[in-house]
This record gives sequence, C-alpha cells and structure tokens, in this order.
Amino acid sequence: MAKKNNTTPLQLSDALLSLDSEFQITRGMVQEIAAAFQMQMQAGLLKRPASLKMLPAFIGRPSGNERGSYLALDFGGTNIRVMLVNLQGNGCYQVTKNKSFPLICSQEGYDLTSPDAVGTDMFDYIAKQIKTILDQNERYLLGHTFSFPSCHTGINAASLICWTKEIRTREVEGKDITHLLDEALQRAGIKNVKPVAILNDTVAAMLAGAYGDRNCDIGSICGTGHNTCYFEPNGPDGLPMAINMESGNFDDVPFSVYDWLLDNNSHRPGEQRLEKLVGGCYLGEIVRLIAADMVEEGAMFPDDKGNPGMLLPYSIKTEYVSSMIADETPGLSNIKIWCRDHLGISNSTWEERAALKHISGLVVTRAASLVAATYIGILNHIDAGHNRTHSLVIDGSLYQKLPGFADRITAVLNDHTVNNGQGIRLIKAQDASGVGAAVAASLCAAR
Ligand code: GLC
Repeated sequence: MAKKNNTTPLQLSDALLSLDSEFQITRGMVQEIAAAFQMQMQAGLLKRPASLKMLPAFIGRPSGNERGSYLALDFGGTNIRVMLVNLQGNGCYQVTKNKSFPLICSQEGYDLTSPDAVGTDMFDYIAKQIKTILDQNERYLLGHTFSFPSCHTGINAASLICWTKEIRTREVEGKDITHLLDEALQRAGIKNVKPVAILNDTVAAMLAGAYGDRNCDIGSICGTGHNTCYFEPNGPDGLPMAINMESGNFDDVPFSVYDWLLDNNSHRPGEQRLEKLVGGCYLGEIVRLIAADMVEEGAMFPDDKGNPGMLLPYSIKTEYVSSMIADETPGLSNIKIWCRDHLGISNSTWEERAALKHISGLVVTRAASLVAATYIGILNHIDAGHNRTHSLVIDGSLYQKLPGFADRITAVLNDHTVNNGQGIRLIKAQDASGVGAAVAASLCAAR
C-alpha cells in the first residue's frame, strides 16, 4: 500500500487504489502461475527439488460397484467427524451415523492441537469418540481421511511429514498414523474396528466424485487449508494413481507485504505459501493486516490507532470476511454492527465500511484466481489439448460458502481453457471425506 508522507494522512481512496494493483492477478499472471505450477508438478513427479510434494496415494480409480457399510474417520483440522457410510453403488450412498467432536474445547479446558499435547492423548480422545457410535455386535472396516501431508508406503501406511493448519501436537510428525490410531483403539478396548485405508481429503473428494462419474480426475479442497490431487495417468505401476500434490505448499506465487508479515509470524515461515494466500485459516488475517496498516497510516478509523480488535492476530475470522462481502444493505449496516461489536468502533463512516468490504473482496478474488491458475496447470498436465471432459470435485467452506469465490474460479477457468471451460465440470462435493474414505476402505476390502 502507498505510504503517507510525514504530515498528511493517507487518503482512503489512494490506499485502496494502490492495494488494488498489489492484489490484482492479471490474465498474464494466471498463465505464468499455471505454467510454473505445471513445471513443479513435473519436477515433483521426477523427484527433483520442487515445492509440490506429489505424494502417491496408492489408490486407483473406483469401479462404481463398491458397496457395503464402512466406518469413516474425517480428521482434517480442529473438528473431527466419525461417520458410518453405506455405499450403494454408482455414486449412491447414505450416511447412517454421524458424530462431530472438537479437538479444542476452552470450556472443558483442553486443546489437543497445542504443543502441550502429545499424539497418544490426541488419538486416545479420537478412539473414545469413535467408541460412542459403535454397535458392539458389528465389525467395521475403517477408512481414515487424514488431511495433512503424509508419506504413503501403501494404502494403509502413511507417516505424517509435518503438521499444517497451525496444528502443533507433539510426537505425531514422522509417525505412522494408522499405527497411532490402531494402538489407541486397542487401549480403548475397541476390538471390532479395523483401519484399512488412510487417505488425504483431496483424494477422498476425488474418490467420492469418481465413484459415480468416470470423468472425475481432480479433487480439491478450498477450506481452512488448500490442496489438490489428481489421477496421474501414468502412476508408479503404470496404472492411473491418485497423487496428492500438497499444492498448498506451491511457492511460485506473488507475495504482498502483508503476506510476508503473515508468513513471518506463522508457525512455519516459508512453508505452505500458496495456502497462506488462499486458505480459510489465513484470509481473515490478511484482511486484518491490511486494515490495521490503513488505521496506522491514518487512512481509516483515525481515532482508533492501536485498536485492540485490529491489533490482535487472527482476530478477524474468515467468516467475518464472508459476511462483509455479503453485506448488501445500503448503509452497510451489518459491517457497522460488526465494527461496533468486534472492534469497539461505533462511529465508523460509510466509506470506511465500504473499504473493509472492498479489501475483503480483493483478498477473496485473489485467492480464487490463484486456485484457478493451479487447476489450469493440472489440466494442461493431464490433457494438454483440453480434448477430454474433466470433472473437478471441490470441497471446503470457501468453495461452498464464500461469496464470489466459486464464481471467480469458474470465470478464470472459462477464460483460460479451450472451448470456454465447456470441457470442465466443477462439482461441489457433499460428504466427500466420509464417502471417499468408505470407497477407499471398500477398495481395500476387495483386495
Ligand atoms: C493442508 C494439508 C493438506 C490438506 C489441505 C486441505 O494443506 O497439508 O494435506 O489436503 O490442508 O485440508
């Protein structure tokens, strides 16, 4: 953002103009990012140094004939879900049991994601929760959607490379996750559950899509974290294999001064650079850093320098960003109430509120454009001439709920693909982590 000179405060309109140019992702940039992404995919596949990990998932295409009831564990962040999923063939399923539980509960005084907790505490708690939905007379095969970078040596063997999404529990990194879960199940006295598959949430989304759609070959998550996988036509054994790219770590992305700030203050500076621009975990914080800078420069809320609501890291949640964009009231009265209740600012002007909405829109549009550029890189890799039809399943709160996010992805894809995006179907996932885990478990049962 432009800086004021020493005497006059920065005009809000000037500040916003300079921000517009800093956050714009032009058509040319989309092409460059897509090309860089494709190059990193190729480098990663050849095991050359690359920011894309390109991790084989040891899972191929489902046939659509997978049937039966499977237990699905969805561990993707601070909220965990256990489900019983009944697969009925050709993309049809029913979720017959479903329970969510948090890994952090301030009222009950626990945080299993902090460095004070160790892996066995975390998995003992998960096992205890699983137990509550079991029927003692049944036997269950379990598919585990574990949404962190993990190195697989088989469909049921994966060790956590490193935590992402700011989780810091000790004694999990480097360990075999199925082992940790299995041991915890035994400690909890659970004898009728057998973990048979572990997979990333992107792979779960893609499997859930491919279960009923032969054209589905890309799965992506746009939620707290961001990542994409695809079916590599020439997998390690010559057959199509799901590859978890860990694309949140893609690093050839434009970083603004605010992104550097966020990165420097994060748990792992320099890592997950794309995710820090597009993940729901971070979008609110980018908006806060920009707004706090504008307050500091005197461009808005001139009487509120040092406002604690603005200064506290991560005090602006991505949900607020979403509500600010969605505020269509003439006086931006929802933002006004938010400024009053969250920032303690009761005399905000319309211009200041419009600026907050504008900043939120910029951050979200940039995020969606970057994500779309990576999808173009993947399409160019698997089908250079865009000759076939591709279904791309996307899950996650940003894609499902953030105003403007999904539309922007569609617009960028239409603009950069042959036939204006006719060959690409973007599909909003439903229950994907659970259904994908059940499909993976069923593929193992069939082996
Ligand atoms: C983070 C994780 C990745 C996951 C994504 C979406 O980027 O590293 O494994 O797929 O979040 O949940």
